[in-house]
Amino acid sequence: MKSRRTFLALSGAAAAEAALLTYGMRSRPAAAAESKAATSASGKSAKPASTKSAADQPFGVAMPISPVLKPTHSNHHTDYYDVDIRPAGVEILPGLTTTAYTFGGHFPGPTIRARSGRTVKVRYHNQLEEETNVHLHGGHTPADSDGHPMALIAPGGYRDYTYPNKQEGTALWYHAHGHGTEVVHVYLGLQGMYIIEDEHERHLRLPSGEYDVPILLRNIAVDSTTGEMILGDPNDRPIVLANGKPRPHFKVAARKYRFRLLNGSNLASFTLSLPSGKVVQVGSDGGLLPAPVERSAFTISSGERCDVVIDFSQFPIGTQLYLNEATAGAILRFDVDRHAHDNSRVPAKLRTLAALPPATVHRDVTLSFDFSSEVPSADINGKSYDPERIDFTVKRGTTEIWSVTNGDTEYGIHHNFHMHLVQFRVLDRDGKPPTADDAGRKDTVPIAPGETVRLEATFTDYLGEYVYHCHVLEHASFGMMATMNIVE
Ligand code: C2O
Ligand code: CU
Repeated sequence: MKSRRTFLALSGAAAAEAALLTYGMRSRPAAAAESKAATSASGKSAKPASTKSAADQPFGVAMPISPVLKPTHSNHHTDYYDVDIRPAGVEILPGLTTTAYTFGGHFPGPTIRARSGRTVKVRYHNQLEEETNVHLHGGHTPADSDGHPMALIAPGGYRDYTYPNKQEGTALWYHAHGHGTEVVHVYLGLQGMYIIEDEHERHLRLPSGEYDVPILLRNIAVDSTTGEMILGDPNDRPIVLANGKPRPHFKVAARKYRFRLLNGSNLASFTLSLPSGKVVQVGSDGGLLPAPVERSAFTISSGERCDVVIDFSQFPIGTQLYLNEATAGAILRFDVDRHAHDNSRVPAKLRTLAALPPATVHRDVTLSFDFSSEVPSADINGKSYDPERIDFTVKRGTTEIWSVTNGDTEYGIHHNFHMHLVQFRVLDRDGKPPTADDAGRKDTVPIAPGETVRLEATFTDYLGEYVYHCHVLEHASFGMMATMNIVE
């Protein structure tokens, strides 16, 4: 069976190679190893000594904050935006230009700040030479604006997406979602954050404004000579970027900050901690938790968010604190460099999560690879994704419990499960209580090999076809995706 596993790895690499050739980039697997060695040995990219500067040192570069997108116009109930999807040269490793796919030239994309109950309409112009599209991950969105994997924007064309934002305040994200191309498009940079603010939350007085900072974390492999991204082996992406930069620093005042952490990696799961400070989690995928929870470490799989508050007032000016990732090590340094007024708070009670109505439908879902034929397939309930097939028909208004199992015990392959349209609640894992990472409203959950997670969701408002899938993009693009049709 070992050979089949090797085949899978190779077929992934072969697909990656083909993809890179398609986009005119050279795939250099050997360079990945060199780059890794250079980065981990010296902590800086390989460059001539004469060009060394502060930027070459680990934590030498400031973490950028993606610009907040400005509406082109607004009326009483709607904000309109225009965004170009286009290639752009960006700086990831100091002094080198990396070809990225971007929203408006930004890597990662600009942040969209929306308000609960107020509509956002985005016109995405596709200036790539290939089809792509955009999905609002975690959004409660009408089907024709959901970025269905087959609803693509032609090169040179545009598409309007309508987001009613009929959901509570939370940090969502938007990313490319064309079937089979999402792996490359998201990896190359088609991802950005989308934050919904609501009135209730405003009254809580959590840190806001410049003290409410979205941080998109993701891993990547970059050729340290050419600066180009290496798609290669998804398990060999040694650099973790925070808002597009490897190991940046972020200057903070000695006060409370709110950080909206997103794992925007294709595949990797991050376990994060702040060894010398306290992290208080206030929210997860679908908004605030009922109450703040102090976390010594927390795990976010591909696509998940964690909304945290860190209080830097406990540290003297000059203190440096590291955000640590279990495998990658220190990925971001906070430099406490000034005092600032702080009238924000973290109330003991954040919101009430309404109890879900009793479920009337139960479904079983199994995610697994099938290695029994020459070409392995990535399946849900034994079937690879077919956009022509409806896998589940769901009656609008129904509350359902889905028992989702990771069937890949033999090779120990990790999956995670994401549903479009709804925010669900985790009921249990293998019959045991959910973990701290499962708290609140969720749209994505990791599932260990052999594990079964029970989820409960109520399907409201919108009709039509939505997908659910493994959020390891390499698995989804291989077919680990299926369709539910919401009907009247
Ligand atoms: Cu974040 Cu269907 O995706
Ligand atoms: Cu998977």
